[in-house]
Amino acid sequence: MEGVEVKSDFGGVFTGKTVLVTGHTGFKGSWLSLWLTELGANVIGLALPPEAQPNLYEQLGLHNLMDSRLGDVRDLDLVQKILRETQPEIVFHLAAQPLVRRSYDEPVETFAVNVLGTAHLLEAVRKTGSVRVCQVITTDKCYENREIDYAYKETDPLGGRDPYSASKACAEMVVSSYRVSFFSKPGAASLSSTRAGNVIGGGDWAEDRLIPDCARSLMASHPIAVRNPRAVRPWQFVLDPLSGYLKLASLQWVNPQNYSEAWNFGPRLGSARCVEEVVDLVLKAWGSGEKRDAIDPSSPHEAGLLQLDSSKAMERLKWKPVYDLEAAIARTMEWYRASQKPGFNALDFTRGQIRDYAAAALKAGLPWVAQAAKASL
Ligand SMILES: NC(=O)c1ccc[n+]([C@@H]2O[C@H](COP(=O)([O-])OP(=O)(O)OC[C@H]3O[C@@H](n4cnc5c(N)ncnc54)[C@H](O)[C@@H]3O)[C@@H](O)[C@H]2O)c1
Repeated sequence: MEGVEVKSDFGGVFTGKTVLVTGHTGFKGSWLSLWLTELGANVIGLALPPEAQPNLYEQLGLHNLMDSRLGDVRDLDLVQKILRETQPEIVFHLAAQPLVRRSYDEPVETFAVNVLGTAHLLEAVRKTGSVRVCQVITTDKCYENREIDYAYKETDPLGGRDPYSASKACAEMVVSSYRVSFFSKPGAASLSSTRAGNVIGGGDWAEDRLIPDCARSLMASHPIAVRNPRAVRPWQFVLDPLSGYLKLASLQWVNPQNYSEAWNFGPRLGSARCVEEVVDLVLKAWGSGEKRDAIDPSSPHEAGLLQLDSSKAMERLKWKPVYDLEAAIARTMEWYRASQKPGFNALDFTRGQIRDYAAAALKAGLPWVAQAAKASL
């Protein structure tokens, strides 16, 4: 992407804006914060200290690039104080307890962080008045999963069997309630919620997630333990949903009332594949390694089949995913492979992947890339 002015992407909306990202010390939050700094935003973060070791936040040195505030979204006074002090114009709320298996061990904490944390954030947005765009990141798991061959649409019923899924369905209800109760008058903040699938990419070091588990096993030359081989998930490269979040936020900025609703950002059709197939693609991309069966009949219930219908975002936002599953896995494993080399510079490598992604989006003619937008005028 030599010579390309990244700052003009997404209509240049983010340049010079004060943007709050909650959950900026996590996997998706780190990628989003870095991309926003590339777009010229003044980025503020609110999250707990990074948990995993290593973690992408520290690998990127993000504390040098943004105003990072460490704190708990369960503390309403603190959330309000941070918004009052920083006066953000755009907010992305990603802070959450995002793990299904952990939600079985810590259900009350999961509900407190994911539901009350969302209410606290929206309350602070309501009281602060500086925010014009607010986006709450939930998940594809917020739908009542009927375990049938069907891709869920935004109008389908919410639900959730495990505490994580139920907490995100509850967060969606909090968003709807705040939208109609407080954010529907002219001049109020535009409030959207976004539902993506299973996100993969370099720098995810979370426990109990397929790709980090694969990367850790391959790096240690251990066989990959496959726990849930038949489970089908909508896998997608991390920058695919993030480009959707950014595209949506840029349109919310320009036309606040038109986009204040729920949006799916799933992968291309055909990317919903079972865990075993994904592990085979990971092994192919890595070039060596083995897998082993680790089915545990006593492990807690996890959904077997889940697919998302993103036609609304494709039609109304002119958004679409850029990478297919093979490319997503290839880019992901390139990141982990590079991270093993002495002198690995995570910041340069990750910035390079963002630029390569924008170059691929340009080639695909996606209008959020400044050059593609200009060419279509
Ligand atoms: N990774 C996926 O596949 C995926 C898929 C769909 C939706 N999501 C959603 O995207 C968001 C980010 O997920 P991720 O994969 O980056 O997770 P992650 O675990 O890597 O990051 C979670 C972030 O939330 C912060 N956080 C947790 N509890 C907090 C608290 N009490 N107060 C303040 N901050 C707190 C953490 O510090 C961290 O910064 C979450 O809302 C998650 O539900 C993730």
